[in-house]
Amino acid sequence: MNLLEVQNLSVAFGSEEDEFVAIDDVSFSIAKGETVALIGESGSGKSVTSLSILGLLPANGGIRNGRIFYNDKDLLALPDKELQKIRGKEISMIFQDASVSLNPSMKVGKQITEGLVYHRLMNRKELRREALRLLTEVGFNNPTEVFDQYPGQLSGGMKQRALIAMAISCKPQLIIADEPTTALDVTIQKQILDLMNEYKKTTATSLLLITHDFGLVAEYADRVLVMFGGKIVESADVFTLFKNPIHPYTKGLMESIPKIEEPKEHLQTIRDAVSLQHGFGGRKFAPETFSADEKVYHSSSTLIEVEPGHHVRFFDI
Ligand SMILES: Nc1ncnc2c1ncn2[C@@H]1O[C@H](COP(=O)(O)OP(=O)(O)O)[C@@H](O)[C@H]1O
Ligand SMILES: [Mg+2]
Repeated sequence: MNLLEVQNLSVAFGSEEDEFVAIDDVSFSIAKGETVALIGESGSGKSVTSLSILGLLPANGGIRNGRIFYNDKDLLALPDKELQKIRGKEISMIFQDASVSLNPSMKVGKQITEGLVYHRLMNRKELRREALRLLTEVGFNNPTEVFDQYPGQLSGGMKQRALIAMAISCKPQLIIADEPTTALDVTIQKQILDLMNEYKKTTATSLLLITHDFGLVAEYADRVLVMFGGKIVESADVFTLFKNPIHPYTKGLMESIPKIEEPKEHLQTIRDAVSLQHGFGGRKFAPETFSADEKVYHSSSTLIEVEPGHHVRFFDI
């Protein structure tokens, strides 16, 4: 059984007259213990997808269609109170920007155990010990010192470790990590992802790893969803996708995997690959500018299974 199942999700911003569809008919699932990567360039709809799962969309956005099942519970039908019980406890999120996610005026030790207090999983006496254990688990070798520090006293990588400690404190079944290491340098990035990977392996936690970096996908994901303009344009297990990428957008993303020693290039290759007229940000492809070959892969209403477990969105012509 799938732990999470997103079916035909559509999300729009703005009023009905002036609507911008950010997510268009997105379906995917995550099994227990599985790492699913959601990859796409900035503006493709990754964060909106993840915020929808936990009912955290901004006020001007709304779910227009679809269902989201978590352990067979329909999250979109749950009263907010019930959703709050799941949020942070069973499904937790790690965001890219630790400085926004952490409260600058609360000591780290107290902060990482707030979820345990909120969900009443532990009495106050046990909290300190648990906070020290969590800090040790995420790699701090001076947990008592860090316990009493404020986030501003920590480096970027250390803050991200604290966020992970917070995210795992209630032993969630699913962690949604939205570009968790984008702000960090490559070495620290690897340490943080290795830490998360180790944790999820030993606990069979599922992970939705949101990224724009195919290098990370290759190393950490079991399965990949490629998102463009609010739609999933290709999905497969990681080996299949790397062996046989089909959609030009996927190929473009792969070609732009940054080499460690080179400065990070912008993803120009993708633009070249799909001849975009309107750029990214949820806009449509411009099929009239496509070559005949490219048209075959242009976004359509249907994902087609081209080999077992490998789906590609084709263009209806
Ligand atoms: N609060 C908002 N109001 C209007 N449009 C939004 C809002 N948040 C996101 N969007 C739009 O939705 C699209 C998807 O955004 P997002 O999911 O944040 O992209 P990603 O995480 O892949 O970079 C973008 O075009 C973005 O401009
Ligand atoms: Mg985002």
